[in-house]
Amino acid sequence: MQKLLIVGGNRLEGTVRASGSKNATLPVLAACILNAGVSTIHEAPRLRDISVMKFLLHYLGAKVTNEGSTIIVDSSNIEPLEISEGIMRRMRASNLVLGAMLGRFGRVKISYPGGCQIGSRPMDLHLKGLQAMGAVIREKFGYIMAEAKKLTGADIHLDLPSVGATENLMMAAVLAEGVTTIRNAAKEPEIVDLQNYLNAIGGRVKGAGTDNIKIEGVAHSQMKPAVHSVIPDRIEAGTHIVATAITGGEVTVTNVIPEHIEPLLAKMREAGVGITVGDDFVRVRGNGRVKSIDIKTMPYPGFPTDMQPQMMALLSLAEGTSVITETVFENRFKHVGELRRMGADIKVEGQSAIIKGVDKLSGACIEASDLRAGASLVLASLAAENGTVIENINHIDRGYERLEQKYNFLGARIVRVHN
Ligand code: EPZ
Repeated sequence: MQKLLIVGGNRLEGTVRASGSKNATLPVLAACILNAGVSTIHEAPRLRDISVMKFLLHYLGAKVTNEGSTIIVDSSNIEPLEISEGIMRRMRASNLVLGAMLGRFGRVKISYPGGCQIGSRPMDLHLKGLQAMGAVIREKFGYIMAEAKKLTGADIHLDLPSVGATENLMMAAVLAEGVTTIRNAAKEPEIVDLQNYLNAIGGRVKGAGTDNIKIEGVAHSQMKPAVHSVIPDRIEAGTHIVATAITGGEVTVTNVIPEHIEPLLAKMREAGVGITVGDDFVRVRGNGRVKSIDIKTMPYPGFPTDMQPQMMALLSLAEGTSVITETVFENRFKHVGELRRMGADIKVEGQSAIIKGVDKLSGACIEASDLRAGASLVLASLAAENGTVIENINHIDRGYERLEQKYNFLGARIVRVHN
């Protein structure tokens, strides 16, 4: 298992570029299954979750090649093979092949996916939507089997704006007979990016980014090769912004779409952090100790749950008491225990964490439990006195490209230990 050794206390200074969005690249790669030609995906981040999805496509028969941050997928020879637990449990987003496989082949068998343990993460909304489109769904021995001679367009209302369910249903609807409407759809920027790719390969999708998405089904013969460049990773950019604030540094984060991180920027300003916004960059200036603030995570355009752990690290050192309420996932406070080992004063009451700011954090031996919790521990370690050892950093590698290189370039002192 690899670990990170971090000596805290340095201010981060300089410029760092955010990579392409993991959570945009994953659904776009899954959507390549719909195509029967070549898709060229630029700006794809090089990280573990993307490798898992590339392997999955390769396993299904696609020809997948990589040139730097460009992934080329030839989906001509994909087959509807059963996807075993061995592959599916490596990443929750493996479930994103469901809609595309059903749409193109009329049948799919996948095991329930694995992924971050931040909640039960059921797939009931995905399956109910597919049933509304005429799919027959059977679940047995941890497998989901879905069949449909031909999916038909349906009017689907999601009980909650699930990102994955919205994406799966968009992909399933592209080749369905007739028009599908997804109401109460997720509005994340990654949904808009998926719409843009689906339209590039010949789909007819509109409304992404709003509550209602309309997909007009087309024949598979309409599918065509496409070139797509994924949007910047708003959560990676947000993580760098918090890293700058927690070290009292001054950093320009580039390759950013500022409106995608508006909720975070508003909270950073409220906490007293200096924020200057350009067309495609954000300049961050730490202004000493941040002020305590309250945060409630919500679906986009609310404050993103994927930035909750990182903000908790920052607010652990704030002036005063902050409250963070997590409304999206039921078990996303696993980083609290590790932050407390570093001296943070945090109490969890139900879905809220009460964070009493302390003057300092001290290095400790801690463990990453999931992707963003791991990021939170890195940020806390950058500001902690003495050294910190973070175990289980494979979680961090799933969602951040070369994180320690990027932070060392800004003045951090991080070493990766392979033992
Ligand atoms: C996506 O996960 C992201 N992952 C997550 O990012 C992100 O935290 C999440 O959206 C919320 O923004 C990818 O895009 C690959 P959901 P997803 O379906 O699609 C419940 C990261 O750190 N739900 O919007 O799995 C579910 O239990 C990851 O990059 C149902 O009840 O999230 C959760 O409480 C972590 N039934 C809530 O909805 C369903 O059928 C939101 O889940 C589906 C979801």
